[in-house]
Amino acid sequence: MRKFIVLLGPPGAGKGTQAKMLAEKLALAHISSGDIFRENLKTQTDLGKLAQIYIDRGDLVPDDVTIAMIEARLQKPDCSNGAVLDGFPRTPAQADALKEMLKKLEGEVVSVPFINVPAEVLVERLSGRWSCRAQGHVFHSVNNPPKTEGICDLDGSELYQRDDDKPETVKRRIHVYGEQTAPLLDYYTKAGLLVEIDGTREIDQVAFDLLKAIKRN
Ligand code: AP5
Ligand code: MG
Repeated sequence: MRKFIVLLGPPGAGKGTQAKMLAEKLALAHISSGDIFRENLKTQTDLGKLAQIYIDRGDLVPDDVTIAMIEARLQKPDCSNGAVLDGFPRTPAQADALKEMLKKLEGEVVSVPFINVPAEVLVERLSGRWSCRAQGHVFHSVNNPPKTEGICDLDGSELYQRDDDKPETVKRRIHVYGEQTAPLLDYYTKAGLLVEIDGTREIDQVAFDLLKAIKRN
């Protein structure tokens, strides 16, 4: 059975930061729907052009488009053991679609950690975030600064600030999360898979808590 871990949490909770480390530790692929959209945006594919309209507004990309994109991604060989899913599913319809996809792939969701961080902290985190162009590694000007300003510690690529991290867009993203993604907390609680993690602690402490919670599941 392939193992899938679904990371839930509001924008800026630390999903990307944790997913990268966790995937490495557990020898799983890291799949970030946001990173795949941004990659397509950079190369101006049809998918990228479509996604940009929604991302710029802070809205979700339509379910059918997102589901098809993830379904294709899960076919890649690096998913042979499973994956850490970061940013997908984000609606109950996406969660149902994931269940169907995993039936075909002989995979299962084994744990759904919810990284909980209050809204006021999220705004501060996103306004100080710097992301790397090459692989989406993330830093923070205060909480987790790179060794050299503007350069990724891990792969030497340029660091940039995301367009959707502007305060108005962040406000909209947090609202959309509450309306469309928060229902998944109940969805995965009912499935007996949700584990809550305090996301306000130091990055390494959150990583430790996450690993502990997953091993227990
Ligand atoms: P996406 O890229 O997934 O954005 P998001 O969910 O809004 O989450 P973020 O990436 O902003 O935050 P994060 O939780 O990864 O935090 P990070 O680790 O970077 O999606 C972008 C857009 O794409 C969406 O708005 C939507 O339009 C579209 N999209 C994506 N998936 C979709 C889907 N499934 N369906 C439809 N549309 C979809 O950390 C944030 C900052 O905090 C960093 O600076 C970091 O250094 C710092 N930090 C992290 N942890 C800590 C800590 N413990 N203490 C202090 N600072 C910390
Ligand atoms: Mg992210």
